[in-house]
Order: sequence, then C-alpha cells, then structure tokens
Amino acid sequence: MTSKNKLVIFDTTLRDGEQSPGASMTRDEKVRIAKMLEKMHVDVIEAGFAIASIGDFESVRAVAEVIKDSTVCSLARAIRGDIERAAEALKPANSGRIHTFIATSPIHMQYKLQMDPAKVLDQAVAAIKLARQFTDDVEFSLEDASRSEFEFMCRIIESVINAGARTINLPDTVGYGEPNEYGNMFRRLIENVPNSDKAIFSTHCHNDLGLAVANSLSAVMNGARQVECTINGLGERAGNAALEEIVMAIKTRKDLMPVKTNIDISHIVPTSRLVSSITGFPVQPNKAIVGINAFAHESGIHQDGILKHRETYEIMRAEDVGWHANKLVLGKHSGRAAVKARFESLGITFEHADELNAAFARFKALADKKHEIFDEDLQVLMSDGHPQDLKEIYQLVEIEVLCKTGRAPSAKITLCVNGKNIAASAIGSGPVDATFKTIELIVNSGSHLQLYSVNAITQGTDSQGDVTVRLEHDGHIVNGVGADTDIITASAKAYLHALNILSSRTQKSHPQHDGI
Ligand code: KIV
Ligand code: ZN
Repeated sequence: MTSKNKLVIFDTTLRDGEQSPGASMTRDEKVRIAKMLEKMHVDVIEAGFAIASIGDFESVRAVAEVIKDSTVCSLARAIRGDIERAAEALKPANSGRIHTFIATSPIHMQYKLQMDPAKVLDQAVAAIKLARQFTDDVEFSLEDASRSEFEFMCRIIESVINAGARTINLPDTVGYGEPNEYGNMFRRLIENVPNSDKAIFSTHCHNDLGLAVANSLSAVMNGARQVECTINGLGERAGNAALEEIVMAIKTRKDLMPVKTNIDISHIVPTSRLVSSITGFPVQPNKAIVGINAFAHESGIHQDGILKHRETYEIMRAEDVGWHANKLVLGKHSGRAAVKARFESLGITFEHADELNAAFARFKALADKKHEIFDEDLQVLMSDGHPQDLKEIYQLVEIEVLCKTGRAPSAKITLCVNGKNIAASAIGSGPVDATFKTIELIVNSGSHLQLYSVNAITQGTDSQGDVTVRLEHDGHIVNGVGADTDIITASAKAYLHALNILSSRTQKSHPQHDGI
C-alpha cells in the first residue's frame, strides 16, 4: 500500500461516540474498547476530550498508557488550556496526536463564538503552533466545514498547514452535507489550497440525514485519506459514520475505491458487540454488517440461490467480519486457564489475581445456570454494571418477584446501600414495573425512566437477557446495563447500574456547547 492509496481509519467511538446521550463509558471500559480497536489495526484512536472532566483526562491517559500500535489522540478546543491538558494526558503514548478545532461557518462564528473570521484564523494558527510544541502529529478541524465559506476555508487551511498541522479535518458537524456537494468541497479545497500536499485531508460526518457513510465515501473518492468514524455508528444525535460500513464498502467495492485500509475485519463483530454491551446501545437487527439479520436470508428464493452458488445473494462473507466466531463453547467444567485465555482473546486482561478470581467466580455462577457459554456471554459478564472503576453505592442482595394470573405482580427486594441492607416491596403493572418501583421505594432517586430494552445475547431459551435501562436525572442521561438468565434480575441490575453511574457522575463539558 502506498501513502497515496492508504486510508487512515480514525476511530472516535470513545470521544464523539461517547457524546451520544447516555453512552458514557468508564475509564476501564474505554481501555477495553481501545484494546479491541488496536487489535483491529485502527490507525488512530480518539480516546476523549481531556479537558472535559477529570474522568476524561484519566481515560485518555489510561488509553495512552496501554495502546502501543495505534496512535492515541485527544480532542482540544483551539485554546491554550485545552491543548496543554491534551498534551499532558497523552504523555505516556507511544504515538500521540493533538486534535484541535474551531468553528469556521458564518453562523457558528457569529452566534456561538462571537468572533470575526480574522480572529478565528489567528486563534487557529496560535493553537497549532502551541500543539506542535508537544507533538509533530497535530490535526486541525474546521468545525461545521460543510456550511463554511470556501474562500475562508482556503485561507485558514493554508495558514494552519504552514503552522504545522498535518491533518485537516472537514466535519459535516450538523449532518447537512450531500454526497456530491461534500465530495466536491474536498476536491476543490485540495486543488486550490497551495500547500494541500503537505497534509492529509479527513472526513468526519454525522448522520442526521442518514448520509454519513455516503458523504465519507464521496470525500474519499475526491481525495480524503482519513475517515473519522465510530463502531456501530455511535455518536452525537443520529450518530457518526459507521466504521464497519466504511471499511466493508471500501473492501467490497475495491473495483471502484482508490484506497485500502489496514483493518483486520475479523474483529468487527466482536468489537461491535463489546461497544453495544458497554454502552447499552443495542444494534438494530437490520444494521449493515453487524446487525443480527445482516447475513440472514429468509426468502426461499434467496436461500435456494445461496445453496446453489453463494455469491448469487451474498456480497460479503459473514465469517470474514467475525460472525459465528464464537464457536468455542465453554461450560461448567471449563478450567480457569481456558476461561482466562478466552477472556484474553476478547481483549479482557486481568492485572491482579483477585480480578481473575472474581471474573472466574462470575463465570462459574453463569455456567451453573446456562449450559453453553459463548464469547458474547463473556463480554457481557464483564460489562453488566460491574466495571472495576465504578463505585457501587447500590448493590442487589436479593430479589423475589411473584406473578400470578389475575393478581398484580409484586416484588420484594433487598439492596445493600452504602454497606447497609434495606428491604422493601411493591406491586406494579408488570414484574419489571414492580421491580423498578420497589427499587425506587428504597433509593428515592427522583430519576425518570426513558428507555427499557431487553435483548437475547445468544440464541436459545437459556440465553442471558441483556437489559438496557436509560434514566434521566436533572438533565443527565445515563444508560445502565445488566445481564442475567433471568430477565427480571437483569432488569434490576441494569436499573441499579444506571443509578450507580448517576451518583458517581461528575460534570463534563461538551466540545461543541462550550463557548471559547
Ligand atoms: O462534529 C464535529 O464537528 C466534531 C469536531 C469536534 C471534530 O466532532
Ligand atoms: Zn462530530
């Protein structure tokens, strides 16, 4: 692969993905996802926005400490404090990138920044010069590029490249772009900016009109050589361009595409599952590549065609992207070494013996209830509301739920709250409602349930139920996840997980909402 046809894959699941309402991740969860991204050979991992909160700073630092093969990046507004904080967080990185940005569209400059274009340009140049004091790898984003004026973009891009920016990112921040228009913007800028050959041009598309992947590919056809994307298309509002769709479109349509990626596609489905179970954002069944139906053929004509000649209806092979890779079944009699090895193959490692012991005990408890344990079960086992760095104020001690025809379901629950056991019971319109009402009798959190969903993790009636509970409290939205072979217990765990996140949550700033 030459540098002309290499497409840099920049994953921002841990930063823009985390900006999805409710998709917050703890430091350890981010590290687990980052390890999977590294295994997948993602070129750049945007690990967070270091200035946003102490938690974000620590996450960027933790990712920078463990990731060796991918570049680790932190976002920073084009201001001194942000850039210095990003540089500090990235210190341990083998290869670190500072990604700094400022808005360039008339509407953002006038109303949000209240700055004139000349001031924006000066601030951008100063930011790049400062960032270059910490690393050679500096990226500059023109926020809201797709609604910015062409002449101004030419001037600012030329100036920041002269100041030392090596990547120029042109985000479609509000998802307004259309493929021809967005692609033309790249071609014209690359043709007109005199020093454009000194930088890599990058796409960053949001999916408000469902065009994020199409816009990204159009940019690639017109000279972009970096794509910013997220696993499962997670991200602000309707999300970002989905990594798996970009990578597979480029691979499957290599006859048309002028580029190649380094991605090891066999890790796509396991990574998608991991992100989904950590964030509590289920993957829709018909989602391209990673949805459960993406390779399922229902119609008799299709099935017949496939049996006669696979390529009649299949343009990609499910097993190539990691489907059905969960063949190795573990069970009740599997030993510690086999379980540890399987965890490690999923990117889950244990620094201390007691961590492995706890994970093994949870594996055994699950194996008592469930005959066969697949990779998905192990992933969920490690992310169902017990991350090591989340303080568990509320813990489930015991739950008893009674459902009888003609009678209102009732729940009796004991929780351990700050080390003290408290019991309560309540009735509800269904067993889940009774469970949540009982928890609220004990906790009285004042939060509002916004979403409740149950998914089966694997097939079969002994599958674990993977429950997501979204709670809102004082404008904060969090997703709690819980898994169990009993979906009522899974629901209680998910509810408590959400409450634990809410009570440990620190205020965090948002890159686009905070004025500079
Ligand atoms: O969408 C956007 O403009 C962004 C930038 C901060 C890169 O996420
Ligand atoms: Zn974005």
